[in-house]
Amino acid sequence: MNTETVAKSKKLKRTHYCGDLTESDTGKQITVAGWVDTSRDLGGIIFIELRDHTGRFQVVADPAKNKDIHKVFEGLRNEFVIIVSGTVTKRPSGTENPSQKTGIVEMYPSEVELLNKSKPLPFMLDQAEDVDENLRLKYRFLDLRRETMQKTFLIRHKITQAIRTKLNELDFYELESPILTKATPEGARDYLVPSRVQPGKFFALPQSPQLFKQLFMISGFPKYYQIARCFRDEDLRADRQPEFTQVDIEMSFIDMEDIISVVEQIITSAFNVAGIDISRPFPRMDHEKAMSLYGSDKPDLRFGLEFVDLTALMAKSEFKSFSEIAASSGEVKCLCVSGISEYSRKEMDDLKALCMSKDFGAKGLAWITFKSDGSVSSPIAKFFKDEEINEMKKLANVKPGDVLLFIADKPKIVAQALGRLRLYLGEKLNLIDKNKHSLFWIVNFPLFEYDPVEKRLNSVNHPFTSPKSEDIHLLDSNPEKVKAAAYDIIYNGTEIGGGSIRIHNTELQSKIFKILGLDEEIAKEKFGFLLDALSMGAPPHGGLALGLDRLVMLLTGNKSIRDVIAFPKTQTATCPLTDAPGNVSDKQLKELHIKVVEPK
Ligand code: AMO
Ligand code: AMP
Repeated sequence: MNTETVAKSKKLKRTHYCGDLTESDTGKQITVAGWVDTSRDLGGIIFIELRDHTGRFQVVADPAKNKDIHKVFEGLRNEFVIIVSGTVTKRPSGTENPSQKTGIVEMYPSEVELLNKSKPLPFMLDQAEDVDENLRLKYRFLDLRRETMQKTFLIRHKITQAIRTKLNELDFYELESPILTKATPEGARDYLVPSRVQPGKFFALPQSPQLFKQLFMISGFPKYYQIARCFRDEDLRADRQPEFTQVDIEMSFIDMEDIISVVEQIITSAFNVAGIDISRPFPRMDHEKAMSLYGSDKPDLRFGLEFVDLTALMAKSEFKSFSEIAASSGEVKCLCVSGISEYSRKEMDDLKALCMSKDFGAKGLAWITFKSDGSVSSPIAKFFKDEEINEMKKLANVKPGDVLLFIADKPKIVAQALGRLRLYLGEKLNLIDKNKHSLFWIVNFPLFEYDPVEKRLNSVNHPFTSPKSEDIHLLDSNPEKVKAAAYDIIYNGTEIGGGSIRIHNTELQSKIFKILGLDEEIAKEKFGFLLDALSMGAPPHGGLALGLDRLVMLLTGNKSIRDVIAFPKTQTATCPLTDAPGNVSDKQLKELHIKVVEPK
């Protein structure tokens, strides 16, 4: 007897997907194919959950009904690949599984074919959540077989399609830019590719299609988009990958409002795919306000806990640790927090350690607890007069039981450390309303920021971003006051996109390079082709790029960007599946004119 096939017809061909079968299919002759998800032998009757990308469907072999089928079923193990044919029947009353969409029906197949066997897997698919991520990534093809992953990638596909559809409706051209190219100006390290035919020369993989999309505008294409792969060699985090995808957009003869309107339309379509209705236009917040109230250019506005500025009050106080900082262009800011007045010394010290850790670098964290009984407990309250305490209470709107947490430092450190503390407490105290969708624009960025180490100005965005036209007159006299025609879009505290109106005038571009201290020769060598193109009839233009992976991560409720990228890199920028990056032979290195210097 054949233990792998019982087939009447020559070749079985799939007619239905497992997850689609419901009571209305009862009586239909169908063929389904997929993987054996589970197999249970109950008193001689074998129940198999057959799984495909849509879900699971129960197929049953009863030796009393069909000995041959039962024989094949006896040999089936998890993840074997089979195709089965038969009539859909209703499960006997009492054996239904109403929690499963297909749980009312089943099939006693009349035909079966074993298409392939499988070795035992390195981990059980239904237990993958508890498995070390490196193992999941090594066997990513199995990890992706899981129902949750299949769902995630279906949504990713649908979001990408919705965005494409919307952009096509709006008459955008989908154009491609090169992957083997020159350094692009996004500020991360480049991934380099050595040239074999040009000894000692290297291509850079694009950090974004920025320069090429500007060239497309100069070429006369009015609206461009690309679902573009970008490469950045930077430190990885939960929302960053070295290789990621942008929805990259550029338009000519437009202003910032046109771009914002297009982006709001495509984001709305993407959110609709995830079943989320959002209303347009999205609100906007000035960069300066975001920094001063939340210490972040991507604040999570699903909760309050805004910074209270006590600098002016503290400048006059007798507490030297604060007054000296306040008097020397530093800041003293605090958070007013409910629900932590009973924190132990250890718990307060943990908050302090967080702010003082090397990533955030605060000099300390001070607190005043206003107990419900009216008394005050604090390591620093003794330094303040009663009027000062009362003024603090007024400014911070303190209620009984509240605690003020203070940081005094340079504005940048106050922003980082108090901003981190705000997010930490937001999570810990459950202040974040997880049902909220906080989607808004940050606008009015400064064009430059001062780098105290290099002692020069840097671009906040990239050097092709246009200053706001009304601020151009400040470029010489007060460049740090100049605002950029740039905009970022923030969703629940993550930057999901950013863009700007570009400079389309060569003189202005040269002037910006000069302010950035970028030598003319270097500018020419790095971006000469763009500068040249700008001088040959460049139309006014601008655009934006959305981080597609981040958007999908947030819309599918995933915590890590790796969960929405089919074959992602680990935190140390490696791929356990292919073992990349790998060694290459001496012959290849020689061809590429490369000598490897072993790290010491
Ligand atoms: P920017 O550098 O802000 O702008 O990138 C745009 C968006 O891309 C996403 N993103 C990333 N996602 C995953 N991993 C990364 N390493 C990563 N880096 C960026 C973010 C970000 O908002 N050329 C400009 C756009 C423009 O001006 O039109 C650019 O690349 O969601
Ligand atoms: P000191 O008098 O310096 O010992 O500080 C008294 C309290 O104020 C301690 O709890 C310190 O952690 C805190 N403190 C000192 N400097 C700062 C600062 N720059 N910002 C916030 N808290 C501080």
